[in-house]
Amino acid sequence: MIILGIETSCDETAASVVKATDSSIEVQSNSVYSQIKEHQRFGGVVPEMAARIHSTKIMGTIDLAISDAHIQPNDIDAIAVTVGPGLATSLLVGIQTAQTLAHVWKKPLIPTNHMYGHVLSPLLNEGINPNDVKFPALAIIVSGGHTELVLMNSFTDLKIIGQTRDDAVGESFDKVAKLLNLPYPGGPEVSKQAQESTSSFDFPRPMIHSNDYDFSFSGLKTAVRNAIKNNQLTPEFTGMICKGFEEAVVDVLLFKTQRAIKEFNIKTVILGGGVAANNHLRVALTTQLKEKNISLFIPDKAFCTDNAAMIALAGYYHYTHKKDSLTQIEPRPNWKIDNR
Ligand code: KG4
Ligand code: ZN
Repeated sequence: MIILGIETSCDETAASVVKATDSSIEVQSNSVYSQIKEHQRFGGVVPEMAARIHSTKIMGTIDLAISDAHIQPNDIDAIAVTVGPGLATSLLVGIQTAQTLAHVWKKPLIPTNHMYGHVLSPLLNEGINPNDVKFPALAIIVSGGHTELVLMNSFTDLKIIGQTRDDAVGESFDKVAKLLNLPYPGGPEVSKQAQESTSSFDFPRPMIHSNDYDFSFSGLKTAVRNAIKNNQLTPEFTGMICKGFEEAVVDVLLFKTQRAIKEFNIKTVILGGGVAANNHLRVALTTQLKEKNISLFIPDKAFCTDNAAMIALAGYYHYTHKKDSLTQIEPRPNWKIDNR
């Protein structure tokens, strides 16, 4: 099946063509217009502005995805579009565009869950056979808006077993960056500073021993604020804070992952979401799982942050395996991954 994916849930305007079967996935094009530069001077995403930029960029982005894939609209079997979760006005731009194209080109329209896209994103790496994912699997989804541990009994049977009670991991990276006067988005900057630092500040590991799979990261941000209160933000001190913060976050994520692996007899771990681009997290998780002989799927960096290839692929599974949610094509800003 050839699917055109369209993604506009936050500040990336994206379109992609993916050819998928149950045993092979080929990304034929992956076109992303990142709005980061436009939002950077405001220190975060301005929803109204994001929607306006989506509407000016969306058609060009789709044209590029189709031409890069060397196909004609006629070759497309279905159009998948993110309907949630995300910013309502941004989602609406992608939905309206997808609806119009589906109508004019007479193609099925597949309303798609953005977080489900992040879960499936490692399958987009070249040469992956989805059949290599053994169940039960655990997906660790860490993005700017969400932090979730998802238990998967198949590609379509998903259940959230833990989530953040306050800030998402990416959000806390962004907030810590702001406290340290580092540019938006903070994740890559904090990570870079952490990597260059040789020493780290000792921060608490929030909720690490709580008897569940939930997380809390807002206290960590407060701990960072307190640590820098009466100190000068020299490059050395900034690096030390970044490294300490990153280590605390990764420790908590790994500890809860480890517990879930034991309790649910997990055979495969999947990492997804923007924070999956974090080197320390990638290396620490790889090391931990190698010792346990559990297979790990991590997306290439291009598929960590928001993209439409993951939406096309999620559309494929929605359409071929779980047809029941195909009718709701209005924005669903709070759509939970296990309520598909
Ligand atoms: O998945 P994503 O592109 O958007 C959402 O769906 O939210 O994730 C964006 C988030 C931002 O908070 C950004 O700071 C974070 O991912 N991020 C990182 C890194 N690269 C992006 N966080 C930590 N380390 C990174 N290398
Ligand atoms: Zn995302």
